[in-house]
Amino acid sequence: MNDIMNEKIKGKHTVIKPGATIGILGGGQLGRMIALAGREMGYRFATLDPVEDAPSAQVSDRQITAVYTDEAGVRELARISDVITYEFENVDARVAAVLEEEAFVPQGSELLRMTQNRIREKSTLASHGIPVAPFRIISSEQEAEQAIDELGLPAVMKTATGGYDGKGQRVIRRAEEAATAFIALQEFQTEIIIEQFIPFTKEISVIAARSLSGEIRTFPAAENIHKENILHLSIVPARISSFLAEKAADLAETIADKLDVTGLIAVEMFVTKNEELVVNELAPRPHNSGHYTMDACVTSQFEQHVRAICNLPLGSTRLLTPVVMVNILGEHLDPLMEQVANLPDSVKLHLYGKKESKPKRKMGHLNVAAESVDDALKIIDKIGIWK
Ligand SMILES: Nc1ncnc2c1ncn2[C@@H]1O[C@H](COP(=O)(O)OP(=O)(O)O)[C@@H](O)[C@H]1O
Ligand SMILES: [Mg+2]
Repeated sequence: MNDIMNEKIKGKHTVIKPGATIGILGGGQLGRMIALAGREMGYRFATLDPVEDAPSAQVSDRQITAVYTDEAGVRELARISDVITYEFENVDARVAAVLEEEAFVPQGSELLRMTQNRIREKSTLASHGIPVAPFRIISSEQEAEQAIDELGLPAVMKTATGGYDGKGQRVIRRAEEAATAFIALQEFQTEIIIEQFIPFTKEISVIAARSLSGEIRTFPAAENIHKENILHLSIVPARISSFLAEKAADLAETIADKLDVTGLIAVEMFVTKNEELVVNELAPRPHNSGHYTMDACVTSQFEQHVRAICNLPLGSTRLLTPVVMVNILGEHLDPLMEQVANLPDSVKLHLYGKKESKPKRKMGHLNVAAESVDDALKIIDKIGIWK
């Protein structure tokens, strides 16, 4: 921060104008796409990441090469940035404290603290009357068995912290599996929760943005299809009734408001057969299921994030075309490159500049716009590398 005195009076009327430097904690694809969007608007960027030439660093003005917990590195990021954001929620509490003290972090650290831990997240949502899957916190095999008695089967056991792309969770179908699952998850050395399995008909997500001054907008709901617990497709418009789409938008807006969000909040939800919504989890940042906005909405989620934290008016979230986003994982990269010169003209390629391609690693995505989502799905089918 250049002006420490000024720091104290920063609040909901502060506007961070283009030309200012936005510091990003984390140098992955989400940071990269925030920086690409923000640069178009005239902002400058600094990235902190342990890996030299990280995806976000490639498109930033400056990179600080340091681990996320390196206090000197974090202080340097604070010093050269007018405003700080992050691209993952597992920001160390100490680092968050340093940043809050020495820099302007409009998103604050409270939302990070909450979304880092499924127990805090689910309890907070429930306390605001938001529907979540019934759950129990368990700390022994006996408690696991008792929880199953109460919740019924199937159930899903999850680590409270650190899980992503289905890592750190087990589906329990028979009561005798509970004890072994509990023991297996001990490896992650964190609290464990068990929740009722929701027999969903669809998974959807809505990304809401709330600016520093309190304006809220939501993006159209995406219908998400996972493969091996990793997001495979986001289909927009989601194939749900307009009643449900509106209900999902309202729910995301309520969450953004109740949790006092600044920036983006991605809300993953299950749709039940009675057209009810159950919130699965939150992410206080741009989300993979919002990548479709880059080519299909007036404003992308990344631009919206920059607008929200800089306190500019939020952009229109209007959908311009039906679209399907498909993820490019490590194993898809070579086959895609073989036909990259022949892709249909409605296919937009986004690659993240990652040095090393590994199976299941997110390397990029395609946004396929078409007359209908069915047409977009056919185009993806024809590219044929996801079979
Ligand atoms: N309670 C549940 N009922 C049914 N399916 C679930 C439940 N919890 C998780 N899942 C499935 O597992 C996926 C990953 O779980 P999630 O809690 O979102 O963890 P992650 O952090 O890995 O994304 C979800 O997208 C959903 O398909
Ligand atoms: Mg999830």
